[in-house]
Amino acid sequence: MQSEQWEHNQLRIPGPTPVPPRVTRASTRPMVNHRGAQFREMYKRVTARLRDVFRTQGEVVLITGSGTAAMEAAVVEMVQPGDKVLVLVGGKFGERWAEINRAFGAEVVEWRYDWRGGAEPAELKERLAADPDIVAVFATHNESSTGVLNDIEGLSRARDLAGGRHRALLVVDSVSGLGGAPLPMDAWGVDVVVTGSQKCLMVPPGLSFAALGEAALARLEQVQTGRYYLDLRAYRKAGAAGESPYTPAVSLVFALEEALAMLAEEGLENAWARHRLMRVQVRAGV
Ligand SMILES: Cc1ncc(COP(=O)(O)O)c(C=O)c1O
Repeated sequence: MQSEQWEHNQLRIPGPTPVPPRVTRASTRPMVNHRGAQFREMYKRVTARLRDVFRTQGEVVLITGSGTAAMEAAVVEMVQPGDKVLVLVGGKFGERWAEINRAFGAEVVEWRYDWRGGAEPAELKERLAADPDIVAVFATHNESSTGVLNDIEGLSRARDLAGGRHRALLVVDSVSGLGGAPLPMDAWGVDVVVTGSQKCLMVPPGLSFAALGEAALARLEQVQTGRYYLDLRAYRKAGAAGESPYTPAVSLVFALEEALAMLAEEGLENAWARHRLMRVQVRAGV
C-alpha cells in the first residue's frame, strides 16, 4: 500500500491512538549514544515531566516494553510467592492482573464485580477488614475492555479505612487512563501506577512506565522474587545517572519528550477535560 493511503487511516480504538505529526517527526531524529550526555539530559527531563503527569514526588521508571511489561514489573516488585493479593476483576485487564500474579506464585483472591460498573469502595473496606493477610490490591483505572472508569480515590480511601495489621499496597493499571483522566497518585495515596506510551500519552507503542511512591520503594528493596530485565532496582540506579540499565527504545524516548511537551502546553487539566468531552460526545452519538 502507498504511504499516502496509510495516512488516511482513521483510527478509533482505545490504543494505539493517533500520533500527532509533531511526535512522529521527533521519533525520526538520528540516533544518539544512549550513554552520552545529550541523551542523559533528555532522559532526566523526560522523567521529571512524567512525574508531573503521575503527580508524584516518588520515582518513575521507563521500561522498553508494552504496558504489560510494567504490569509484570509491578507484580514482581511488590509480591513474593505465597503472598495473598486481592485482584479487582471488572474486565479483561483485571483478569490480566490475576494471571500475572498467579504466574509468580501469589495466592490470588479475585473480586469479580459487575462488569457494567466499577468496584464499590465500601466493599473493598469490608473485604480487607475481613482478610488482613492481603498485602496488595490490584485495580484497573480505566478498564478498556468495558469502558468503565474506576473510583481509584474512593478505593484508596476505603483501603486506608480498613484498618488491620498493615496497610495493603494499592497497585493501579492506568494504561488507558493516565494523561486522559485524573489520577494524582500522591494525593490519592496510590502506591504504584503503571501506564503505557500508546494511549493518552500519544506516543507509538513500545514504552511503559511504573511510578512508585514511598511505601512501594521500600517494598521494592525487600521482595526476593527472582527478576532480571524487570528488576526496577537496576532502573532506579541507572536512572539516577540519567540512564536506562539496558538500551532503551531511543526513538520512542524522542517521541515521548515531544508528546510530554504537548501535554504541558495544553495543561493536564485541559487534557482531562478534552477526554471527558469526547466521552460525552461518543455516548450522545451512540
Ligand atoms: C487497561 C489496560 N491495561 C493493560 C493493557 C496492556 O497493555 P499492552 O498491550 O501495551 O501490553 C492495555 C492495553 O490495551 C489496557 O488497555
